[in-house]
Amino acid sequence: MNNEPTSNISRAELIELLNEDLAGEYQAIIAYTVYSQVLKGAAYTDIARELEIHAGEELAHAIKIAKQIDYLGGMPAVTPKPVITSNDPVVMLRADLENERVTVGRYRERIRQAEALGEYGLSETLRAIIVQEQDHEIDLSAALGINVPPPIKPAERKNDGSNDGNQLKDLYAPRR
Ligand SMILES: [Fe+2]
Ligand SMILES: [Fe+2]
Repeated sequence: MNNEPTSNISRAELIELLNEDLAGEYQAIIAYTVYSQVLKGAAYTDIARELEIHAGEELAHAIKIAKQIDYLGGMPAVTPKPVITSNDPVVMLRADLENERVTVGRYRERIRQAEALGEYGLSETLRAIIVQEQDHEIDLSAALGINVPPPIKPAERKNDGSNDGNQLKDLYAPRR
């Protein structure tokens, strides 16, 4: 399968992509669990509390995605995408925001693919999840004092799964 976004995929490919989404949800659970406790300083008290709430929401997403994978006849994956550790609040918040941008880009594509396959229950589930992922982006962007950056489309990412990050300098300029 190439890296171009496409709606024309098989059921097996959909299951594979959903398992990558699930690995991203596991990553989010871990990152929010750890960062919500490690973030220190008066300036970060509110966002630390928000991140704790995000952790619970990400767990709910993981369960919903796993349920859909099972429904489609697949076996839900058990391995998270990697989580970076840092003592720097800005590094943690940016990592969370980058992951959310990737997630929103992936789910936009997944909703189109689900609908092309007539999987309307899946697309309905993903639509509810994407609303919360966008809320997470808003919370993180507010804490970083920036405008909400656009999602990262899967096709804009490198084959190794990372995005090239070349837009980041502009994105993290303070909000005017
Ligand atoms: Fe999520
Ligand atoms: Fe999220």
